[in-house]
Amino acid sequence: LMLPSCDFTVFGATGDLALRKLLPGLYERERQHQLPADTRIIGVSRSPLDDAGYRDLVTHALFDHVAEDHLEAGALHRLTSRLHHISLDAASPDDWHRLHGLLKDRPAPAEGADVVRVYYLAVASDLFGPICARLDDLGLVTPQCRVVLEKPIGSDLASSRIVNDAVGRVFDEHQIFRIDHYLGKESVQNLLVTRFANVFLEPLWSSRWIDHVQITVSETLGVSNRGEYYDRAGALRDMVQNHLLQLLCLIAMEPPTRVGGDTGDSVRDEKLKVLRALTPLTGTAVNRATVRGQYTTYGEELGHPSTTETFVALRVEIENWRWAGVPFYLRTGKRLARQESTIEVVFKEPPHAMFPHSEGTTTPNRLTVRMQPDEGMQLHLTAKHPGPGGIRLHPASLDLSYADTFDERSPEPYERLLMDVMRGIPTLFMRRDEVEAAWAWTEPILEQWRAVPIEPVRYHPGTDGPAAAARLLARDGRTWQEPS
Ligand code: BG6
Repeated sequence: LMLPSCDFTVFGATGDLALRKLLPGLYERERQHQLPADTRIIGVSRSPLDDAGYRDLVTHALFDHVAEDHLEAGALHRLTSRLHHISLDAASPDDWHRLHGLLKDRPAPAEGADVVRVYYLAVASDLFGPICARLDDLGLVTPQCRVVLEKPIGSDLASSRIVNDAVGRVFDEHQIFRIDHYLGKESVQNLLVTRFANVFLEPLWSSRWIDHVQITVSETLGVSNRGEYYDRAGALRDMVQNHLLQLLCLIAMEPPTRVGGDTGDSVRDEKLKVLRALTPLTGTAVNRATVRGQYTTYGEELGHPSTTETFVALRVEIENWRWAGVPFYLRTGKRLARQESTIEVVFKEPPHAMFPHSEGTTTPNRLTVRMQPDEGMQLHLTAKHPGPGGIRLHPASLDLSYADTFDERSPEPYERLLMDVMRGIPTLFMRRDEVEAAWAWTEPILEQWRAVPIEPVRYHPGTDGPAAAARLLARDGRTWQEPS
């Protein structure tokens, strides 16, 4: 399906995100012949590159970041011919006029077609407001324009409001696409389908049958060349305030009226209710319910000592009818043993142990949603061990592997979300009130960490993180599920 004609402008065009995710994502669409001939991709950065220099840079990036069997000379040529680069020093009016000139100097699109203008702001969020204001001054903002904001938006509630206000002075809320690439993951969208296009889970989906939920996003990489950003952010701002809370919302939210095909508000309204129902973690409750860790080689990697956390584990509750009393345990960290993201929904034990000698031998039912490394789902249950000698119980599982079930490859999250931006579909993007509700909940944790400046607990690279994370669950008589 063809995408609309578009002028796709990326601020931060030579950055990590643009080169590793955005351009490879656009390349995949090119390969599928979905980009109309007159779509242009305009990179904006401070680098002194001309169009040819930028085309070279992008070509190298595509060789590094696109799967080898997807590299096709024709598609590479088509994509790179769309590329332009504007070197822009934000303080220089001349540079802005060159961007203006390029955007205005555009062949008229085909009869009846509108050109969609996308401004993708892959830069630090304190630049969002100033960039939007400049675009507006230059008359480059029309109803056909959309702006994409990368996370984290601000570094706390007040700063995120300032950013949202500044962007909101130029763009209407429906033109603003706040990206959280976790919502673009196939397995995350499948979670919505599993919950709401089937009947079997919904009756069980509450404190009545669910004992607790675990959300783990474990990374093996360190912070490498992103140290400057990361050290100011830390794991709570980088991952929990956005990705992990969004996952929690999709697990916990009430059924929306519809998913897609509308303004996106049905889903976003329900997510917002979850965020607003999170039990606030404030004051000393923070010390009990959170673990902050840092891998032992972090300071060395960074080049200076630091107290920023590279690991966080939390115990979270939701104060509503469905979830009262059900803990949600979240953990994420860098330089851990595994590159793996999973959600574990752990059910309660059957109310009565009726099989002889079965007491203590059953394992609770568990639904595992695997986001990484291989997407899929597993339902863990207890089965009868085959054999004539009476009934012996044995753990077994129903497995849904994406790779085995579907021939199509799963698109990369950014690839999918960029298409939604071009088409103007907002469901998988965050609304302003969601971002702010997430900050409102996160902020007191940051405050308490600042008020009681305890050093993060150190953990060795290649491990599961600090032992305190295991104790967080052990206190409740539970353990983290490690992969089976
Ligand atoms: C980004 C964070 O948003 O998500 C990174 O800034 C993190 O620190 C990344 O590595 C993880 O994404 P994924 O898709 O690889 O799990």
